[in-house]
Amino acid sequence: MQGESHGSHQTVAIEPGAEHEAHAAAPSAFDGDAQHGSQLTRRGFLQSALAAATLAQAPQALAQPKPAPVAATLAPPDAPPQAVVLNINGQDHRLTLEPRVTLLDALRETLAMNGTKKGCDRGQCGACTVLVNGRRVNSCLTLAVMAEGDRIVTVEGLAHGGQLSPLQTAFIEHDAFQCGYCTPGQLCSATALLDEMRAHSASAATPDVRQQAVAWSDDEIRERMSGNLCRCGAYPNIVSAIRSVAAGKV
Ligand code: FES
Ligand code: FES
Repeated sequence: MQGESHGSHQTVAIEPGAEHEAHAAAPSAFDGDAQHGSQLTRRGFLQSALAAATLAQAPQALAQPKPAPVAATLAPPDAPPQAVVLNINGQDHRLTLEPRVTLLDALRETLAMNGTKKGCDRGQCGACTVLVNGRRVNSCLTLAVMAEGDRIVTVEGLAHGGQLSPLQTAFIEHDAFQCGYCTPGQLCSATALLDEMRAHSASAATPDVRQQAVAWSDDEIRERMSGNLCRCGAYPNIVSAIRSVAAGKV
């Protein structure tokens, strides 16, 4: 850079490449450390802004209520076991169970009645279906203590005197199972289905709920059995087995 002085006026010739240097050296309102009289610097600006923000939030922070003390434990105290009498397949069973025990676990774990199966344990597959007072329920969603005084029927109670029920026989004849894991639930469910349809109770598949008699269609049977899943896909044969019993062929 070369400079010439003409009186009080100074001209500056800037060499190529020196412009950036000269520009960078010029004082700026947002320069970091340089203080130039009363000009606002970057550091000063940030410090002022931070102080203002802190002051603005201070009253709120002071006004906020203190968080409530966290309880030492959120788990409820254990409920003590209680005596319960369950009538299962016509026989009374005196048990001592915690109130949280499901009917499914009482059957399988306490009474070793393993015919009733545990699939999802959350009411989605129907493997645990049993009959309570003639109605099908998911035993995994039923507390055992709630079933006291009720008539509980499991798959072990469907046969009488060594004779399979008509549905059990039909399931064998129609090859309505493969692995058999869902079959106890399917049999209990189908047993209640037969009673429901004979009583002419309508379902979501009933075309006209004002009809006196419900038609034994595949749609009706499939709809009423829709809560029982079969991972082997034996559905067509299950429907055939139920239809054959409904028709009195078994
Ligand atoms: S185990 Fe109860 S519905 Fe699946
Ligand atoms: S027969 Fe295997 S799940 Fe139904």
